Amino acid sequence: MNFKIIETERLFLRPVLETDVQDFFELDSNPKVHIFLENKPVKTLIESEAMVASILQQYKTYGLGRLVLIDKVTNGFIGWSGLKYEENLRKEFSYYDLGYRLKEQFWGKGYATEAAIASLNYGFSILKLQEIGAAADVNHIASNSILNKIGMPFIETFEYKGELCNWYNLKKPSL
Ligand SMILES: CC(C)(COP(=O)(O)OP(=O)(O)OC[C@H]1O[C@@H](n2cnc3c(N)ncnc32)[C@H](O)[C@@H]1OP(=O)(O)O)[C@@H](O)C(=O)NCCC(=O)NCCS
Repeated sequence: MNFKIIETERLFLRPVLETDVQDFFELDSNPKVHIFLENKPVKTLIESEAMVASILQQYKTYGLGRLVLIDKVTNGFIGWSGLKYEENLRKEFSYYDLGYRLKEQFWGKGYATEAAIASLNYGFSILKLQEIGAAADVNHIASNSILNKIGMPFIETFEYKGELCNWYNLKKPSL
């Protein structure tokens, strides 16, 4: 995989490495991180190894995948954001999904918004995607506010595992 590292004002977005497992575990073992993600925080490092492996597999299969967010000042792991080829969320179709997940101590500082904007730009300009989708539980105020703020058009609601979600889809902006 030959990703360029993406740079924003405060962040680097770099490919996931096998050595990130411990940070993924710290992120995903926090129940608060999983409130709108089916409430299933991980309990073992093995689950985080599987998560890292699935992202590395996305890189190989689709040439894209979630990227780790690094604080440019401290070099520390903040979380992940970026794109994923999503085959399981919508029953009717697969799509390129924009997502983000941050360690709790980094919430509320605008990092997810900053990473999401960079991910959209990367998807359209470098990967030449035609459209990018995103989904958020209707009650997830932070995520819906990010998607509105970055200009993702709301399309419809849909149900996923008994939860009502908002569906957003942005077409590649024409020049
Ligand atoms: C969702 C998540 C990524 C947000 O990250 P973040 O860096 O805190 O987000 P940002 O700071 O960029 O933006 C959050 C926005 O939501 C707003 N917001 C958050 N909680 C809010 C609330 N309860 N009421 C009103 N607005 C709220 C913030 O004010 C901010 O908007 P603003 O920039 O206009 O002030 C983070 O909380 C997270 O990782 N959660 C766990 C994983 C997750 O749920 N991922 C998304 C699944 S769809």
